[in-house]
Amino acid sequence: MRDKLERLTEVDFNKLSKLINTNYGIKLPISKKLMIEGRLRKRLKANSIDTFNEYVEYVFSDIGLKKELVHMIDVVSTNKTDFFREPSHFDYLTQEILPKFLKEKSGKPLKIWSSACSTGEEPYTIAIVIEEFLKGIRSFDYTIHCTDISTQVLKKAVDGIYNLERIEKVPIDIKRKYFLKSKDPQKNIVRIIPELRKKLTVRRLNLIDDLYKTPHDFDIIFCRNVLIYFDKPTQESVINKLSKKLRTGGIFFLGHSESLTGIKAPLKSLKPTTFVKI
Ligand SMILES: C[S@@+](CC[C@H](N)C(=O)[O-])C[C@H]1O[C@@H](n2cnc3c(N)ncnc32)[C@H](O)[C@@H]1O
Repeated sequence: MRDKLERLTEVDFNKLSKLINTNYGIKLPISKKLMIEGRLRKRLKANSIDTFNEYVEYVFSDIGLKKELVHMIDVVSTNKTDFFREPSHFDYLTQEILPKFLKEKSGKPLKIWSSACSTGEEPYTIAIVIEEFLKGIRSFDYTIHCTDISTQVLKKAVDGIYNLERIEKVPIDIKRKYFLKSKDPQKNIVRIIPELRKKLTVRRLNLIDDLYKTPHDFDIIFCRNVLIYFDKPTQESVINKLSKKLRTGGIFFLGHSESLTGIKAPLKSLKPTTFVKI
């Protein structure tokens, strides 16, 4: 009994791994078993379930598939992110994309999609970079559509509340302009200013769904550090579905450890991990 409680068997792990791969595209090789075991303990506790075996049975039951899957993915997905992560993309935004958009004077808002937005650091960084570019002059408006598979991270993105250490490396002038300190000095938290929070629309979306219920004609799509969790055919399918939502001439960003090598998509490389829709 005790053994069963403390260990997720290989058979049960493989069942879960297959379920997660089918539903979310995420690859979970056996090397991740220990990590998954650790992450799932929270779910056992939340459901007052004593053993991993019982938990797996519950997940596969009709009610489990309806109710638990969504919470399981919250703990299984890796949500690592940061403000100004992979800064060369934001430099490119400031130096190339935003000046071009300003010059075009389309009169339309700049439409951006952060397609695996995690807890919001990526979309808020984009908003800060645009605000810094515009310097308070409302030459054009912008919107940032934010999606992720995990409901838990989306809640955090909507709240825009972060521990102080998350913004330790953010330049002081940026902190002052875009983050509000808690009135309670005991609390080491900051909150994104409401003007930026308003720019985000936050929705749950599974990138492996056949149809994306999102707006279209995006000018820029960020798809960073999520494809690494998918196998090649899933990557190709996701990239093509995202590309359909990008306007011709729109810009597509991948994470720095990701590439389009061996993938057929209507995207032309501008520089490493930066592409244009053709
Ligand atoms: C490592 S984070 C990357 C966050 C951000 N893009 C960045 O680069 O800092 C990966 C995110 O992808 C999300 N994710 C994983 N599988 C997904 C899927 N099938 N559909 C949508 N989002 C997914 C996870 O929940 C997680 O928040």
